[in-house]
Amino acid sequence: MCLSMECSWKTVLLLVCTSLGIQYTAIRSLRDTFSAPCSGGDLCQRREVKEYQWKVFCDDGHQTPESFHSPSRKHIILFATTRSGSSFTGQLFNQHPDIFYLFEPLYHVQQAFTNSSARLRKILDRRALLGAYRDLLHNLYNCDFYFLETYIKPEPKDHATASFFRRGSSSALCSPPVCEESHDKLEPEEIWCFKNCRTLNLTLATTACQGRSHMAIKTVRIPEIKDLKILSEDPRLNLKIVHLVRDPRGILASRMTAFMDQFRAWKIWNATGRRPHYIDLSQITRTCTDLSDSVETGFSKPAWLKGKYMLIRYEDLAKEPVQKAKEIYKFIGLGMDPKVHTWILQNTNGSNNAEGNYKFTTTRNSKATAESWRLNLAFDIVQTVQRLCNTTLSQLGYKSVGSIDDLRNMSNSLVEPRTFIPFL
Ligand SMILES: *[C@@H]1O[C@H](CO)[C@@H](O)[C@H](O)[C@H]1NC(C)=O
Ligand SMILES: *[C@@H]1O[C@H](CO)[C@@H](O)[C@H](O)[C@H]1NC(C)=O
Ligand SMILES: *[C@@H]1O[C@H](CO)[C@@H](O)[C@H](O)[C@H]1NC(C)=O
Ligand SMILES: *[C@@H]1O[C@H](CO)[C@@H](O)[C@H](O)[C@H]1NC(C)=O
Ligand SMILES: *[C@@H]1O[C@H](CO)[C@@H](O)[C@H](O)[C@H]1NC(C)=O
Ligand SMILES: *[C@@H]1O[C@H](CO)[C@@H](O)[C@H](O)[C@H]1NC(C)=O
Repeated sequence: MCLSMECSWKTVLLLVCTSLGIQYTAIRSLRDTFSAPCSGGDLCQRREVKEYQWKVFCDDGHQTPESFHSPSRKHIILFATTRSGSSFTGQLFNQHPDIFYLFEPLYHVQQAFTNSSARLRKILDRRALLGAYRDLLHNLYNCDFYFLETYIKPEPKDHATASFFRRGSSSALCSPPVCEESHDKLEPEEIWCFKNCRTLNLTLATTACQGRSHMAIKTVRIPEIKDLKILSEDPRLNLKIVHLVRDPRGILASRMTAFMDQFRAWKIWNATGRRPHYIDLSQITRTCTDLSDSVETGFSKPAWLKGKYMLIRYEDLAKEPVQKAKEIYKFIGLGMDPKVHTWILQNTNGSNNAEGNYKFTTTRNSKATAESWRLNLAFDIVQTVQRLCNTTLSQLGYKSVGSIDDLRNMSNSLVEPRTFIPFL
């Protein structure tokens, strides 16, 4: 049913939308007059917009598909820590055709705030960084990809960039209209996309984002759940926090494998059984403190997390991926698309592992991966982490081991059965 009035309106809107790119200069100067970065994305309702074109744009209130402004639109955040299984978990969202998924967009902000010329990379201002993270998340949840231009290095030209971090991990950025599909997509999507979709047109990314009903963003860069309070309290967002945790002993083993250079001392310790005197224990200690503080916040059920918070252990997800994925979708309030189901079946089956050693791959036997640290860490290291992280381990139901035999005997699980009920 297409009434002609409606249709002509849509044509007009379409024209307005197509000229968005041209008008961007205007938007930019507009934005410059706001004291804070555009945090609502909802230009029409909240800002005094004087530009004529924008008035046209706004009076109708529908520059984007209905779903974009729908109160049922979900803003999912996959809140995790490095090497805690977040790539795998992120795929549960990436595979859903109604969800626009982004993999670590905060990377670009972190880069901008990091002094990389120093040998030890250093964050210059933590509070400002967290604020910038928040602004970026807010703008991305509203599909404003131009907001990223402030941070991407080198600076995008003509609202296009070849430096979008891990673009290939976002299915929507590797599909039409953002990137033309080819028939011989035999490689894993991330690799295919990396080779075939070089420059990202941010205008097209924005359009693609607006075309999907929901949005999910994965981040390992925000230290604590508490740092999400302002975002969570914002009435313009419908935030759903999926807090992914993992046994810190597993996190450490995975980091040692993925980041060889940074964990050289640990590798030496693990290989020789002798602890280098210069070992830096602060990173794993901080990881555990952040985990503990976040879990504490979640368990204490503050009003600002009501209906918005769920905790999931990676080990449980790896053991029962379909069941746990269903629980996640139930919490979010969306149906689990059959594509998600199919992806899980295909990617939690070790015998289908055809990707070799690709460091950040998610295709492998998740069950084996979640527990493999037990065979890959020297007992001495395990004991050290147990000592540094004892609070975290007991909060999350991870058992400490007292002997190397208990550590290596895989028939005894170190994951106590626990039920973490979402805070509804
Ligand atoms: C970055 O680090 C280098 C080397 O330590 C130092 O000389 C420079 O002043 C730092 N830059 C800023 C902006 O702090
Ligand atoms: C990006 O896409 C828009 C919309 O299709 C187009 O108008 C613009 O020219 C593209 N930009 C570049 C740099 O290709
Ligand atoms: C795993 O893969 C193997 C070989 O491809 C197949 O025989 C088996 O049925 C699969 N298992 C599941 C649970 O999909
Ligand atoms: C630790 O050492 C053991 C035995 O030498 C090795 O099998 C394992 O892969 C090492 N673990 C890591 C994380 O490097
Ligand atoms: C962790 O270790 C500290 C210091 O040894 C101890 O005081 C504390 O009770 C331990 N916590 C747990 C939960 O075991
Ligand atoms: C591993 O643990 C199981 C169950 O506690 C026990 O029956 C078995 O003997 C252990 N295996 C070894 C090699 O110690």
